[in-house]
Amino acid sequence: MSALLDNLPLYRHMTADDVDTVTAIENKIYPHPWTRGNFSDSLNAGYHCWIMELGGEIVGYGVIMIAVGEAHLLNMSIAAEWQRRGLGRELLKFVVKLARDFLAHKIYLEVRPSNIAGRRLYASAGFSEIATRRGYYPATRGREDAVIMELELK
Ligand SMILES: CC(C)(COP(=O)(O)OP(=O)(O)OC[C@H]1O[C@@H](n2cnc3c(N)ncnc32)[C@H](O)[C@@H]1OP(=O)(O)O)[C@@H](O)C(=O)NCCC(=O)NCCS
Repeated sequence: MSALLDNLPLYRHMTADDVDTVTAIENKIYPHPWTRGNFSDSLNAGYHCWIMELGGEIVGYGVIMIAVGEAHLLNMSIAAEWQRRGLGRELLKFVVKLARDFLAHKIYLEVRPSNIAGRRLYASAGFSEIATRRGYYPATRGREDAVIMELELK
């Protein structure tokens, strides 16, 4: 029984004590990672900040802002060594359920055009690419656009 439970991802609220671990994961997976301050600010702002755990280890996290019927997925990440095992898809399902539970009718997110993994994942979950935000992200040279994606929740 415990072996079975160890294999199920668990979700819990992120706290200030998680920020060091989450920032370390972030630094490994993004060329332009969120800072400790970005996570602390999100916690202080009351955004929905969630940790995904497997066997007591933090394997992913998500930060979602939900207001006036719209959810904005600000950060969704799976730790490098846990990627490509279906956890990103699971975390996204959790985010969609959370948005529904808080009565959002749409979820928006921004993704780099170069982030093929993210765009495929979101597209396969029903998100549509609705616009481009010019020069949204810092890049190694200059800036990179953001693709804005939307999921309508029926
Ligand atoms: C994007 C991310 C969340 C996906 O999580 P994951 O656990 O690796 O993804 P999953 O194993 O659940 O795969 C789900 C789908 O995503 C797509 N995908 C995931 N990794 C991919 C890769 N390296 N190349 C192409 N497609 C990929 C595929 O469509 C995949 O479905 P499939 O397995 O049926 O082909 C993860 O790679 C990540 O955290 N990346 C760094 C941070 C990031 O880019 N976050 C999103 C910012 S908007």
